[in-house]
Amino acid sequence: MSTLVAPSILTADLANLGKEVDMLNNSEADWIHFDVMDGVFVPNISFGIPVCASVKKITNKPIDVHLMIVNPEKYIKDFQQAGASTISVHYEACTHLHRTVQEIHAVGCKASVAINPHTPVFLLEDIIRDLDMVLIMSVNPGFGGQKFIENTYSKVTALKDLILRKNARTLIEVDGGVDDHTGLKLVKTGCDVLVSGSYVFQANDPEKAISGLKKLTPSVQV
Ligand code: DX5
Ligand code: ZN
Repeated sequence: MSTLVAPSILTADLANLGKEVDMLNNSEADWIHFDVMDGVFVPNISFGIPVCASVKKITNKPIDVHLMIVNPEKYIKDFQQAGASTISVHYEACTHLHRTVQEIHAVGCKASVAINPHTPVFLLEDIIRDLDMVLIMSVNPGFGGQKFIENTYSKVTALKDLILRKNARTLIEVDGGVDDHTGLKLVKTGCDVLVSGSYVFQANDPEKAISGLKKLTPSVQV
């Protein structure tokens, strides 16, 4: 499978969101990554359900919703109706994670669990077979443009081992500080989906930056 690329519109020019989504529509981006922040789970507030629905109106690309909010189970149906294909909830924000994952599946979305940099992969051992994806945070969630945390590579390795050991079909997504350099090392380590914000939207040619990330495969030489 080729590497999937999910540009995060958190770092897009939000005054020209329609134009930015158009650029993504014409690009090789596989999904649109949509970061929802509530100012409680993370120290920042971004955008929510109405903006997601507006983006969905102007794109056919699947929307990959990343909920950085407390009580995410309250909003699953709303985001499904707003056009989400995949919904990521944080391990750290869910007391009854298994139930929340079932609820995401019940509305017809793909279910993903996001883990913060301090959360070890082994905690997913008893839920991995129920997950379509795991989102490994490679920065502390809340802001775009942060420095990639190097320990992420060993987490990708541990997660890949867990997936193989449990015979699961879970995708591995990495989010935060992803560029061509960290992206290449990540795909070589076993990452399937690269989320990238600043690297894409601050590039002189964002479409080219996306194509470059798409070309990263385990066989590319550094
Ligand atoms: C951070 C968000 C990320 C962020 C990525 O909390 O979850 O999706 O927008 O942005 P960069 O690629 O700039 O780190
Ligand atoms: Zn994100």
